[in-house]
Parts: sequence; C-alpha cells; structure tokens
Amino acid sequence: MPPLVPLLLLSVLGSTSASASTDRHVNALVKLKVALVPATSNALADWDPAAAPPAHCSFSGVSCDAAARVVGINLTGIPLQGGVLPPEMALLDALENLTVTACSLAGSVPASLAELPALRHLNLSNNNFTGPFPAPAGAGEPYFPVLEVVDAYNNNLSGPLPPFGAAHTRLRYLHLGGNYFSGAIWESYADLTALEYLGLNGNSLSGRVPASLARLKRLREMYIGYFNLFDGGIPPELGELDSLVRLDMSSCNLMGPIPPELGRLAHLDTLFLQMNRLSGEIPTQLGGLRNLESLDFSMNELTGEIPAGLANLTSLTLLHLFRNHLRGNIPEFVANLPNLEVLQVWENNLTGNLPAGLGKNSPLKMLDVATNHLTGHIPPDLCAGGMLEVVVLMENCLSGPIPDSLAQCKTLRRIRLGKTMFSGSVPAQLFDLPETNMLQLTEDLLDGKL
Ligand SMILES: *[C@@H]1O[C@H](CO)[C@@H](O)[C@H](O)[C@H]1NC(C)=O
Ligand SMILES: *[C@@H]1O[C@H](CO)[C@@H](O)[C@H](O)[C@H]1NC(C)=O
Ligand SMILES: *[C@@H]1O[C@H](CO)[C@@H](O)[C@H](O)[C@H]1NC(C)=O
Ligand SMILES: *[C@@H]1O[C@H](CO)[C@@H](O)[C@H](O)[C@H]1NC(C)=O
Ligand SMILES: *[C@@H]1O[C@H](CO)[C@@H](O)[C@H](O)[C@H]1NC(C)=O
Ligand SMILES: *[C@@H]1O[C@H](CO)[C@@H](O)[C@H](O)[C@H]1NC(C)=O
Ligand SMILES: *[C@@H]1O[C@H](CO)[C@@H](O)[C@H](O)[C@H]1NC(C)=O
Repeated sequence: MPPLVPLLLLSVLGSTSASASTDRHVNALVKLKVALVPATSNALADWDPAAAPPAHCSFSGVSCDAAARVVGINLTGIPLQGGVLPPEMALLDALENLTVTACSLAGSVPASLAELPALRHLNLSNNNFTGPFPAPAGAGEPYFPVLEVVDAYNNNLSGPLPPFGAAHTRLRYLHLGGNYFSGAIWESYADLTALEYLGLNGNSLSGRVPASLARLKRLREMYIGYFNLFDGGIPPELGELDSLVRLDMSSCNLMGPIPPELGRLAHLDTLFLQMNRLSGEIPTQLGGLRNLESLDFSMNELTGEIPAGLANLTSLTLLHLFRNHLRGNIPEFVANLPNLEVLQVWENNLTGNLPAGLGKNSPLKMLDVATNHLTGHIPPDLCAGGMLEVVVLMENCLSGPIPDSLAQCKTLRRIRLGKTMFSGSVPAQLFDLPETNMLQLTEDLLDGKL
C-alpha cells in the first residue's frame, strides 16, 4: 500500500511545521506586547509570555485559525501610550487582519508588514505613526501582495504615497488622509482596478491630479482635497468615473474651468469643489447629475449666470455658490427644487428679484443671499415648508414690508436684514419668536418703529 507512506510523512511534516509556526506566532506576540506596553502598565495583562499554544489564541484581541495560527489582531481603543509595532510582526505569517486604531501608537510602520503574505485588512487609523509608509524592499520583493483594505487615516506619516499599482488587484479601500504625505499622486493608482474608496485628503500632495484616475471604474468615493496644493485643474476625464457617488476636491488649489464632462456622473450625490480658484461659467451640463444632493462651488472665481441645466437637479438639498462672481438672476427654478434645504449665494453680483415661490415647494431651512444687488420684495412663502431657521438678506436693495408670514415663522432662530431697504413697520411678532436668538435689523431703512 504505497500511498500510505507519503500521506503519513506529509501529516508528520505538516504538524511539525504547524507547531513551529505557532511557536513563532507566540514569540511574535510576546515581542509585540513588549513593544506596545510599558513594563509598568497593566494593559494586555492576559497576554502571558509563558503561554503554550494554543493558549495564545485566547489573548484579548487575538484570533486564530484551526491550526492555532494567528490570523487576526484587533487592539482597537486599547490606550497603549506611545507603543510601537516591532519588526517581529513579520513572524505572523498567517496574519490577515491587523487593526490597531486609536491605540496612541507612535514610531514607524514596520517595513516587514509589507512582506506578510496573507495580510488583507490593515487599519492603523488614529494613531501617531511617523515617517514614511513602507516602500517596496526591491524589485520582485513581496509588497503587500494580497492587500484589500488600508486605512492609515489621521497619523503623522510623511514622504511619498505608497506606490501601489497593477499588482494590487484586490485593493478596494485606500485611505491615507490626514497625514503629511507629499509629492504627486502616483499614475499607477489608475491601475488599482478594484478600488472603490480613495482618500488622500488632508495631506501635502502636489503635482497634477492624474487624468488616468478616470480608469478607476469601480471607484465610488474620492476625497483628495484639503491642504493638498495641486497644479492645474480638474481633469475632464474624471467624468468617466462611472461608479462615482462622492467627489470631494475642495481646498486644493485647483484652477481653470469646471469640466462639463462632470455632468456625466449620473450616480454622484455629492460634489464638493469649494475653496479653489476655479473660474469660467458653471456648465449647464451639470444638469445631468440627477442624483446630486449636495453641490458646493463656494469660494471660487466663477462667473456668468446660474445655468438653466441646474433645474434638473431635483434631488438637491444643498446649493452653495457663495463668494464667486456670478451675475444675473437667481432663476425661478430654484424655488421648484423639491428637496432644497440650504441656499447660500452670498457675495456675488446677483440682480433681480428673489424667486417668488421660494420656500413654497421645499423644506427650506437656510437662505443666505447677502451682499448682492437683489431688488424686489421678500417672497411671502419662505417659511411655508415649516423648517426655516436662518434668513440672511442684508446688503441688498430689497424693498417693501417684511411679510407677516415670516414674522410668525416659529422655527426661525436667526434673521439678518441689515443695510437693505425695507418699508413699513417691523411686525411686532418678530420680536416674540421663541427661537430667535439673533435678530439684526439695524441699519435698515424702515419707516416704522424698531
Ligand atoms: C478580517 O476583517 C474582515 C472585515 O472586518 C472580516 O470580514 C474577516 O472575517 C476578518 N478575518 C479575520 C481572519 O479576522
Ligand atoms: C475591533 O474591535 C472593536 C472593539 O472591540 C470592534 O468594535 C471592531 O468591530 C473590531 N474590528 C474588527 C475589524 O474586527
Ligand atoms: C499623538 O501624540 C501627541 C503628542 O505626543 C498627543 O498629544 C496626541 O494625543 C497623540 N494622538 C494620538 C491620536 O494618539
Ligand atoms: C478603521 O478603524 C476605525 C476605528 O475603529 C473605523 O472607524 C474605520 O471604519 C476602520 N476602517 C475600515 C476601512 O474599516
Ligand atoms: C504629529 O503631528 C502633530 C501636528 O504637527 C504634532 O503636534 C505631534 O506632536 C506629532 N506627533 C508625533 C508623535 O510626532
Ligand atoms: C434637463 O432635463 C430636460 C428635460 O428632461 C432635458 O431636455 C435636458 O437635456 C436636461 N438637461 C441636462 C443638462 O441634463
Ligand atoms: C460685480 O461686478 C462689478 C462690475 O462688473 C465688478 O467690479 C465687481 O468686482 C463684481 N463683484 C463681484 C463680487 O463679482
């Protein structure tokens, strides 16, 4: 019966290597505890250095597979007061999940993590890791070979972004925001075909936003703004990101026009481009963003009128266009956006009347049109949706009386009308509103009593 011999041999070899491997794992956990916990601390008290396998599998935060190999470490929220991850992490050759978030860890991220053959989920967020993210040891060396999720948000990491690329076919979540990474976004990120989440916000990145990122057909969320200082503008190719739901490129020095191609992002619910140096007109093609709920283009250098295409944005709840150079009217269609809650268009060059039906057809909460050249009367139905909290009309050329309906608006807590030209007396009810904590009527040209 020849087959028995090899089988027997295999099982003996198998068990030998399994126990060698578990001894290695226990050793690694012992080294990890020493690196994480000061001798004086009581943290990880159940991590007994003398434990014999498989006792290590019941250490708090440790999980093992059937062969008592460590596959998961989760130390979330254990305050380890400046501990570090030791290089011996490399001994944990079956580790799939490493979650050490909000542990007050410091020091560098050990380069040996990049070699772990099974590491799929790496969550290092909310610590004090410093220095660079591990780089590849050399051509052909393993570099996070099966990684699916990396979250290093909110640390002190610096240097170039990790050079992930075509080899990382499983990487679907990459969050490196809130660090000090510098240099450009790698073109190779365009080869991360499984990527669904890209967070590079709040770093010190520079260079152009690569147009090739348009190849990320599974990408749902992209956050690349805040403190990054990019050259150039928004690549029109980003309009090809067919799965995109959230795009936040605020406050990252973008120049040039808003590409009309962005209007193709039919699944987009959030488009944040505020606090850049974007110029030119708002493309009417953005009317194609049928699922858009939040649009913020405030604090740019946009010119022209509010385009008619935006009438198609029937899911819109927030429209921020303040601090630009927009002219013309606030179009009547704005009053017909059925979900609109927040309309802020202050500090532009807008003229004409406020839309007569404003507030009538939507749950309007906040209206700020200050510092424009608006004329005409305050629309009578601002409070009709029953949600109105803030009305700021100051520094315009509005006239006529303050509608009684506004004065009786029970939800109102802030109203500013200064430096605009109202006539008639201020309705007494305005001063009786329960929530009103900020009522600025001074400097108004009102004939009545104040
Ligand atoms: C690793 O984490 C993922 C996501 O939280 C989970 O689905 C998986 O079961 C974990 N695997 C191990 C070995 O802990
Ligand atoms: C890690 O542990 C924390 C606290 O016990 C738990 O809330 C979280 O879901 C765990 N995460 C993973 C990935 O296992
Ligand atoms: C990082 O370290 C600083 C100074 O040592 C400390 O104040 C801060 O709480 C730490 N932050 C985290 C997230 O551990
Ligand atoms: C990483 O851990 C933090 C804190 O526990 C959690 O909020 C975050 O969702 C985790 N990241 C991923 C990608 O699961
Ligand atoms: C991380 O950066 C912050 C802000 O620059 C700094 O206050 C803190 O001391 C740094 N922490 C470490 C451990 O370097
Ligand atoms: C807006 O909707 C109208 C009517 O459905 C359509 O004809 C027009 O092409 C749309 N505009 C944009 C920019 O999507
Ligand atoms: C409004 O238009 C005038 C005249 O064209 C221009 O001088 C001024 O800078 C504009 N203001 C804004 C905020 O765009």
